[in-house]
Amino acid sequence: MAHEHLRLGVNIDHVATIRNARGGPHPDPVRAAHVAAEAGADGITAHLREDRRHISDDDINHLARTLSELGLPLNLEMAATDEMLAVALRHRPRAACIVPEKRAERTTEGGLDVAGGRDHLAPVVGLLSEAGVRVSLFVEPDPYQLDLALAIGAPVVELHTGAYCDAPAGPVRDREFSRIEGAAAHAASIGLECHAGHGLGFDTVSDIAAIPTIVELNIGHFLVGEAIYVGLNAAIREMRRLMNEARHET
Ligand code: PXP
Repeated sequence: MAHEHLRLGVNIDHVATIRNARGGPHPDPVRAAHVAAEAGADGITAHLREDRRHISDDDINHLARTLSELGLPLNLEMAATDEMLAVALRHRPRAACIVPEKRAERTTEGGLDVAGGRDHLAPVVGLLSEAGVRVSLFVEPDPYQLDLALAIGAPVVELHTGAYCDAPAGPVRDREFSRIEGAAAHAASIGLECHAGHGLGFDTVSDIAAIPTIVELNIGHFLVGEAIYVGLNAAIREMRRLMNEARHET
């Protein structure tokens, strides 16, 4: 089967986390975006959280300018709030991924409840789409959530791979993998573009990358951690190599 090119979106949030630990300008996520571009990233992902714990409004301003110079798309991860909608409509990034956000969580802990949130998600999807932003909804690998995503007009879903990545090797991980594989096939069958991400590392990326209907992976925390040992460029290149190998791309 011919596989579509699998894009790698590099999430640079945790470059900002390290910077913010000291409050100064170093390390700069914009420099990380330059390195990611050199290393072959297909896009940069950044999550502007309500509490601004990592990426700041200034980062988004600088990233938007730099990425348009580099010709690299920005994928803005955002909660479906009025404040974030205003930011997204001001910048009009190439893509926006709508995520649930709870103040107390350490990271995005689960996918969106599209059924429960339908009434406030649908207008956000509509306004972003009208502004030319390609909207994805971050959801659990559950066909019901995918059907609802389609029903409210989202062209793309991003499947949450966290439970798969956290599971120990064995039956639990196998079950989580089957859920992702099934959801990715379902997405394609109903005409949704399918992305995946959260928690992926060198030991978990290959099986996910081999799923042919997934066309984009968004990966951050592992790459920034690995960069401490080998550098960001080398970490991204190795991730890209594993993705290509799984996809039989050169
Ligand atoms: N995709 C989404 C929607 C996310 O919220 C995150 C985390 O910000 C990621 C992908 C990347 O996850 P990780 O940093 O664990 O690679």
